[in-house]
This record gives sequence, C-alpha cells and structure tokens, in this order.
Amino acid sequence: MAKGHKDKVAVITGAANGLGQAFAKRLAEDGVHVACVDIADASATAKMVEAAGRKAVAVKCDVGSEESVKTMAVEVGKTFDRVDIVINTAGIFPQTNLDTLDFATWRKIISTNLDGTFLVSMAFIPGMKKRGWGRIVSMSSSTLGSVVTGFVPYVASKAGIVGFTRAMATELGPHGITVNAIQPGLTKTPGAMGRPPRTGFKTMDEEFDAVAQMQAIKRAEVPDDLVGAASFLTSDDSAFITGQTINVDGGRVRS
Ligand SMILES: NC(=O)c1ccc[n+]([C@@H]2O[C@H](COP(=O)([O-])OP(=O)(O)OC[C@H]3O[C@@H](n4cnc5c(N)ncnc54)[C@H](O)[C@@H]3O)[C@@H](O)[C@H]2O)c1
Repeated sequence: MAKGHKDKVAVITGAANGLGQAFAKRLAEDGVHVACVDIADASATAKMVEAAGRKAVAVKCDVGSEESVKTMAVEVGKTFDRVDIVINTAGIFPQTNLDTLDFATWRKIISTNLDGTFLVSMAFIPGMKKRGWGRIVSMSSSTLGSVVTGFVPYVASKAGIVGFTRAMATELGPHGITVNAIQPGLTKTPGAMGRPPRTGFKTMDEEFDAVAQMQAIKRAEVPDDLVGAASFLTSDDSAFITGQTINVDGGRVRS
C-alpha cells in the first residue's frame, strides 16, 4: 500500500477504459475509494474497485462541458464526503490532417483534453484546500517530445496540460496540494489500438513495433507500466514533487 493512500477518495476521469481503468484498479489496491468518471459507462471499473474492497461509484460526465462537470461533482458528493485525488485521464486523440483540419475539430480536442482537465480539477480544489491535502495528476503525452504528423490539436492540448500543471503547482503548493503530469508513450489501450495507424504504417501492430524500437526498453507499453507512477504521484511519498511532468515511455523521450 502506498503511503497516505488508505481511505483517501479519488476522482478518476476516463475510467471506463484503458489508462483510467488501470489507475482505478491500482489505486483501489492501494486503499483508495474511487469515483469512476467517464462519458461512457464506467460501472465495470467500479466493480473492479469494489472487488479490491474499496467503495466506488460510476458517474457519467462529459469533462469538456462545465454543466456536466458540475452535475458530476454533485453526484460524486452523494457517495463521498470529500475528494482528495483527481486523475485527469479522459482524452481523445483523433488523427487530424492539417489540410482538412477545421476549427470545430480543434475545439473538440482542446475542449475534451485541456478544458476537461481544468474543469474537473477546479471542481475539487476548494475541498482539497480546506483539508490542506490534495493530489492532481493529468495525462500529457510523449507526442509532445516526438516527431509525429497528424496531431496538431492533440499535441497542443497536451502541451497545455504541462503549462496547467506548472502554473497550478505554484498556486496550490502553499495548500498542501501537488500537481503533476505523466507523459505516456504509445500504450496498448482500447483507444490507441482502435485508431487508424499513423501515415506510413499499415496496422497499429506495425506502429507499436516501430515505436518500441525507438525506446530504450524495446517492447510495447501497456497500461500496467503507468500505474506505479500514478500511485506514487498521488501518495504521501511524492509530497515534495510538484509542477513536474514525468515521462513513462520506456525511455523514448528525454527531458
Ligand atoms: N494510449 C496511448 O498511447 C496514450 C499515449 C499518451 C497519452 N495518452 C493519454 O492518456 C489518456 C487515456 O488514454 P487511453 O489510451 O486510455 O484512451 P482510451 O480511449 O482507451 O480511454 C479514454 C477514455 O476517456 C473517455 N472519454 C473520452 N472523451 C471523454 C469526455 N468528453 N468526457 C469523459 N470521458 C471521456 C473515453 O470514453 C474512454 O473511456 C488520454 O488523455 C490520452 O491522450 C494515451
């Protein structure tokens, strides 16, 4: 069990699938109760949390909508009297061709990935401040440090998360709240496996193999490779680490 985790309460967005689900399962094993938030049904993840002996609730929410996030916070409040940890995992990563990229697509990606991170964090910061303890961890992406085509709005949204993390850490440090980000590499989740391969690759398996060869550790990344970093950054052990972005990508990007 990670230090300081027992009976803490986490809101994890994007919890129906992939990384969010893996984080929920790991934090539950660490002793954390979890509100599993997603635009899709996250009740299977809530069951995993309960199977680990922790309390859970699944709440539907579009993180890019202020109204929806407000409603979600009220729903979470019906099960939990506080939220100590927020993990912003909800995100979309459609490939966008620059020649056909329109403003609506740009807005949709920025809204889900960056506005969502802002709105969900803001909903729970007042309570964290009151208790003098909080952890906010958000997903950036190794694409920020890589040469990839077709991801202009996505990479911009993930750079925004790094800026959000740094500036929020400064605001919240005096209140016992740390704010950090994780940069996953290309990871085998339903979202990544389900998208069309990038230009130059015939299949996602081919893309995963090529990316693995660019890493120091030459195998495809899986969600379990990221849960240790999420556990550490939401525990007492990381209390003096804030404003940081940690690459968890098999040693592909160095910064
Ligand atoms: N898998 C990768 O290769 C990879 C690499 C770098 C960063 N990331 C980031 O990690 C995060 C999780 O990615 P994943 O691979 O687990 O993706 P995924 O598609 O498997 O899961 C993402 C989840 O977010 C939810 N979601 C999407 N839009 C939402 C919205 N508006 N409101 C609430 N929930 C919403 C989806 O329903 C889904 O359950 C994303 O932010 C992604 O950008 C992933």
